Amino acid sequence: MSETPPPPEGLLAELTHRCPLACPYCSNPVALDAPRAELSTQDWKRIFSEAAEMGVLHLHLSGGEPCSRRDLAELTAHAVEVGLYTNLITSGVGLTRDLFDRLVAAGLDHVQLSIQGVDSAQADWIGGYKGGYAKKREVAAWVTDEGLPLTVNAVIHRGNVEDAPRMVDLAVELGARRVEIAHTQYYGWAFKNRAHLMPTREQTDRAFAAVEARREHYRGRVVIDHVAPDYHARFPKACMSGWGRQTLNVSPSGKVLPCHSAEIIPGLEFWSARDRSLAEIWAHSPAFEAFRGFEWMQEPCRSCERKTVDFGGCRCQAMALLGDASACDPICTKSPHHALVGEIAARDSEGPVEDFAPRRFAREPA
Ligand code: FES
Repeated sequence: MSETPPPPEGLLAELTHRCPLACPYCSNPVALDAPRAELSTQDWKRIFSEAAEMGVLHLHLSGGEPCSRRDLAELTAHAVEVGLYTNLITSGVGLTRDLFDRLVAAGLDHVQLSIQGVDSAQADWIGGYKGGYAKKREVAAWVTDEGLPLTVNAVIHRGNVEDAPRMVDLAVELGARRVEIAHTQYYGWAFKNRAHLMPTREQTDRAFAAVEARREHYRGRVVIDHVAPDYHARFPKACMSGWGRQTLNVSPSGKVLPCHSAEIIPGLEFWSARDRSLAEIWAHSPAFEAFRGFEWMQEPCRSCERKTVDFGGCRCQAMALLGDASACDPICTKSPHHALVGEIAARDSEGPVEDFAPRRFAREPA
């Protein structure tokens, strides 16, 4: 066993995979955890306590839609009690006024609200939920009226790419202190639907420039985070800030993962928070050990001066595109397979958007 790594800063708690929306770019795995497999209230409370003891600072309450959990306020209260900063990542749909009031009373620190489009026709179409857009506007008002900090995030794809700058304006109008505009990252459902979501190179460049211009426009008033379109980038992102370095995910059924997509990598052994402590898993789980540090790297990463910047990029992307999770992320121009990324992007940016597969359980949840 290697020496104990520094403690993680953040925990993403995927409380459930249930969600009223059906966004085709969802980063959840295509094989969703069934409701009957979800951790209990007591399990989650123990995990939050263990996280706080380890030194975790930020708890992201996510899903699926976390508001689908009946015990969300109780879990939030416990997380606050043990000293975690709580961030609710929600679509807003499923959040009632009563639940919101209970979350506020529990001490919730921050809300991150997703938007799917700039009007109800676009947003409700892509999210597969009539009335979703109106509900989000209502929730944003609750949050800002309460004085809670609000982040609004939007995912950009072929169906809304021309509206990217208007998404920024809408987020600001909703009262966001921080806006995240993220070009689709192709994992989970987004990978499955890549051929229906990929914008053309021209659309991407135009949207990117327009969002950058909005960033300048709002500078000093609103922070705008801009997540680059991977397939058109020259260097890979430092995915998860490096595998097993800063964050960990707990899936609805209790699997502790180095990232939301890690289950696509065959041969990794994931330990469960049902059986072991979070600290033990963080320090010694084979899945976390697999790509921690630099020893696992192949060339060109191994001798690259950027390896402490991007940590070789994304392991799941290397797996998905090359079938080798220890390869250099082919997004990188130094990868011998970089040309493949451009070929995929060009091929997948044609054809109808409408034919995407909506995110849903293989069989309806019990
Ligand atoms: Fe798994 Fe990037 S999504 S390492």
